[in-house]
Amino acid sequence: MDKLIITGGAQLSGELRISGAKNAALPILAATLLSENPVTIGNIPHLHDITTTMQLLGQMGIQLTIDEKMNIEVHSSTITKYEAPYELVKTMRASILVLGPLLSRFGEAHVSLPGGCAIGSRPVDIHIDSLIKMGADIQVEAGYIHAKVKRLKGCRLVLDKVTVTGTENLLMAAVLAEGTTILENAAKEPEVSDLAHFLNAMGAKITGIDTDILTIEGVDKLDKKEIHYNIIPDRIETGTYLVAAAITRGRVKLKDTRPDTLDAVLEKLKEAGADITSGDDWIELDMHGKRPKAVTLRTAPYPAFPTDMQAQFTAMNIVAEGVGIITETVFENRFMHVQEMQRMGANIQLESNTAICTGSEKITGAPVMATDLRASASLVIAGLVAEGETLVDRIYHIDRGYDHIEEKLSQLGATIRRIPR
Ligand code: EPZ
Repeated sequence: MDKLIITGGAQLSGELRISGAKNAALPILAATLLSENPVTIGNIPHLHDITTTMQLLGQMGIQLTIDEKMNIEVHSSTITKYEAPYELVKTMRASILVLGPLLSRFGEAHVSLPGGCAIGSRPVDIHIDSLIKMGADIQVEAGYIHAKVKRLKGCRLVLDKVTVTGTENLLMAAVLAEGTTILENAAKEPEVSDLAHFLNAMGAKITGIDTDILTIEGVDKLDKKEIHYNIIPDRIETGTYLVAAAITRGRVKLKDTRPDTLDAVLEKLKEAGADITSGDDWIELDMHGKRPKAVTLRTAPYPAFPTDMQAQFTAMNIVAEGVGIITETVFENRFMHVQEMQRMGANIQLESNTAICTGSEKITGAPVMATDLRASASLVIAGLVAEGETLVDRIYHIDRGYDHIEEKLSQLGATIRRIPR
């Protein structure tokens, strides 16, 4: 397995372009299954999860062509089977996102249950129960979800929990259902809104976008022609590089991003002492060489502080001035990075879903192991300030969600290199 070696000490500075959002690209690629006509998606990030999604659609018989600018053209009319096999789903849980569109357009889906992952059990009960309420006949056996329906029926669904991919699956299920669907307690993440805008661009009738009540008037088909849709920038990639600059007391300017999707993160960076300026599509952070101050935060669904930025802020807190308390309310096991940071000398006390971080003047480089996507990014960030070398193992997690991370960090002045297996 590839590893990353980081030598700490560099103060990051410079400019970077942010890639398209992984968590918008995945549902939008799944949503191309709903279109009668070919569609082209632009600003696709160069990530392993995108490759997996293309394999998932390709093995269904879908035709995909990708050009040198990472635009993907999808023709779903050549579909031959309605299945998401375990071999692919076990490598990417978001494969569950084909369930809604397959049922909505073709009335049939056989999707492997995603199973749990490092950060939690990650059930999909809300996806399944809601589709049953829309009239689907669903049997779960031998690790697969077998779903059939003549045509889904719109209805009012009040979701027990705020679920991002649950909201996305149900949006895609509702667009071709008979009648109107009302989704209450819907997720409001920008990636959910990006999917809704894409569906409307294809001819769907969704209102209430950006709110927690989505109303979808079912249509018979999505037959708009010449659709070319660009994915929104990745707010979590943006936040990750802002924290990398803050922890190294540096200064960065990130371009092709969306500051308006990061309010809660920018607030916490200002509390840490960062000087932040921004325009429509850029953000600049300057620490003026100062050590960050520790921050206290609590993760929750958008627009509150995102769980996908929790590990990165934990990394910043362990070298910040003072004590910062981090509370994780979304996933039950999202502190796997803590014990790895403790091996670098971090002073963190874990109490159920809370990490009490007392900032140290210095931490030391060590061999550490990545366990999930954002935890691995947080270990790279910690390595940027640790004394000596940090070796991050199992970085296949990172490659799933960060487009050329070592090139981008090197561009900002970090000393980082990849050791192929
Ligand atoms: C999405 O996962 C993201 N993945 C995650 O990003 C992100 O951490 C998460 O939303 C929260 O923002 C993608 O968009 C591909 P949830 P998702 O359903 O949809 C419970 C990353 O780093 N729940 O919003 O799977 C669940 O257990 C990844 O890019 C149920 O109980 O998360 C969790 O406690 C990691 N039943 C809470 O809801 C269900 O049927 C939120 O989960 C569904 C969810």
